[in-house]
Amino acid sequence: MKRDYCELIDESYIGKRVQVSGWVNNRRDHGGLIFIDLRDKGEVVQLVCDPKDSKTSWEIANKVRDEFVLEATGVVRPRGVGLENEKLKTGKIEIVVDSLKIENSSKPMPFDINDTKVNEEIKLKNRFLQLRSAKMAKIFKLRHKVTLTARNTLDRLGFVDIDTPILTKSTPEGARDYLVPSRVHGGEFYALPQSPQLFKQLLMISGFDRYYQIAKCFRDEDLRADRQPEFTQIDVEMSFCNQNDVLNIAQELIYDIFKTANIDIDKNFPQITYSQAMEKYGTDKPDIRFDMAMVDVADIFKNSTNEIFSTIAKDRKANRIKALRCPGGDKIFSKRQMKGFEEFVRKFGANGLGYFQLKEDGLKGPLTKFFTQTDLENIIKTTNLQVGDIVFFGAGEKKLVWDYMGRLRVHLSQLMDIVPNDIYKFLWVVDFPMFEVEEGKVKALHHPFTMPKTLDNIDDIEDIESIAYDIVLNGVELGGGSMRIHKKDIQKKVFSLMNIDAKEAEDKFGFLLNALEYGAPPHGGFAIGLDRLIMLLTNSSSIRDVIAFPKTQKAQCLLAQAPSAIDKNLLDDLSLRLKQNQNDKDNK
Ligand code: AMO
Repeated sequence: MKRDYCELIDESYIGKRVQVSGWVNNRRDHGGLIFIDLRDKGEVVQLVCDPKDSKTSWEIANKVRDEFVLEATGVVRPRGVGLENEKLKTGKIEIVVDSLKIENSSKPMPFDINDTKVNEEIKLKNRFLQLRSAKMAKIFKLRHKVTLTARNTLDRLGFVDIDTPILTKSTPEGARDYLVPSRVHGGEFYALPQSPQLFKQLLMISGFDRYYQIAKCFRDEDLRADRQPEFTQIDVEMSFCNQNDVLNIAQELIYDIFKTANIDIDKNFPQITYSQAMEKYGTDKPDIRFDMAMVDVADIFKNSTNEIFSTIAKDRKANRIKALRCPGGDKIFSKRQMKGFEEFVRKFGANGLGYFQLKEDGLKGPLTKFFTQTDLENIIKTTNLQVGDIVFFGAGEKKLVWDYMGRLRVHLSQLMDIVPNDIYKFLWVVDFPMFEVEEGKVKALHHPFTMPKTLDNIDDIEDIESIAYDIVLNGVELGGGSMRIHKKDIQKKVFSLMNIDAKEAEDKFGFLLNALEYGAPPHGGFAIGLDRLIMLLTNSSSIRDVIAFPKTQKAQCLLAQAPSAIDKNLLDDLSLRLKQNQNDKDNK
């Protein structure tokens, strides 16, 4: 069937006959003449139905309503002077219709697909309609180009695309698993993969050398604006390599992807260690589009006559006193806002928030009385304060202080409107700690197969560094990876430090541990969150905007109505019985 796509019809088509098919974006009756904006693949072209040109077509056009499906034939002509629409690609032309066919009608739309303010629940229930909008068409075209580029680049670099199982065993990313009951093995469950981590390592042991996959991952965790229970990774693994080799591949890949999106970036991303990131920005995913780095002022606060500060300052290992300079803040923020900042950090566990303002005649603020003149001058020097600046102080347990001061830094930057939203600032965060201790339990920060730098002379388990790295873009964790343990004795030691005994290790990861005994090569890799990448490339505020059929914050698909109750017979087949109260709920 002959078909001309709207996006291609421009002034070069003037005088030519075209045949277009699509949906009615809108229809306007201008006293005799009927104008229809016809839409296909997100682009729109104007049809004109004039009874003088074709009475039949005009009569059909009279019956047309929004979202009807049409086929139209006609000749392209320039729009009249002053009637051009600069916003449209096809805004200089229109099609004079001589044949019009209604291929299908449509119920009135439940919402206007181009209205961004419509309640999200209605949009998600009717997602197939929302996907008709030009905005959505653009996002998914780009998503396609990005995966295509990723495949081409990885192919050029010698990576082979290999599928790994979806029905599998628990993987080690640390979230809750989605489980699938087995009918054949009653009472047993598959886990959906949180990532292809273990299988990609097995592929290295199999000798594939360079693997990649655009992989579906499933994690049952609390959802946020940049998290979905089901998401996609560009997942990569390679053998006989070091950290630098892996970082170079990731940079090459991201560089090509951004080029596809017409964005030029520097191929070499700056690097910062985990510890520098925490000390300067209070987070392992710092947004470096603006500076506002924190500085340590414990040495000055140590001399303070305020006992709370001086006591905190003395325990350098456990505590921090951090200063955050807010340039020109004195003029920007009212007294009420200053109070609000204290309430803001209290939400994240702070006991309070100190501050000084530098006026023409020196430092002012409720805390100045606790410091000598020399120490006040030292504060000005250390924090590089200028007249008109405010400096905030957070004091207490180090992880707490990093966290709330890091959040305050971002909060202030947003209020001050100093974050440029048209630039892309990449950053490698390297040398992550191998372990973190939470409520007395030792956990792997990335996963337990990450290669530690060394396991000799362990004083504090949280001081052990690993060969692990994250890719951060504009304050969002875009990806992460590590070099993996390929030697059994190191793996054993890591498990013992995590108090995982041989039986537990065997139950959980036996198949990988077994493979590690058959000549595992040194290997490492990374995974980039594809959805987050598209979110950042399209400036979308929610990850749901870049997934064709996303889940809500409550992990539901409103369109398909999933999850849903299942038939009792099916439960019997699967050897499952629901808890009594669940049965009652389902029977209501
Ligand atoms: P990690 O768990 O850091 O590493 O995941 C890699 C990237 O995947 C994205 N991501 C998510 N995106 C949307 N919703 C989620 N719930 C979600 N969780 C993670 C993020 C993240 O940076 N196997 C390792 C990689 C490796 O070591 O090679 C892994 O999965 O962008």
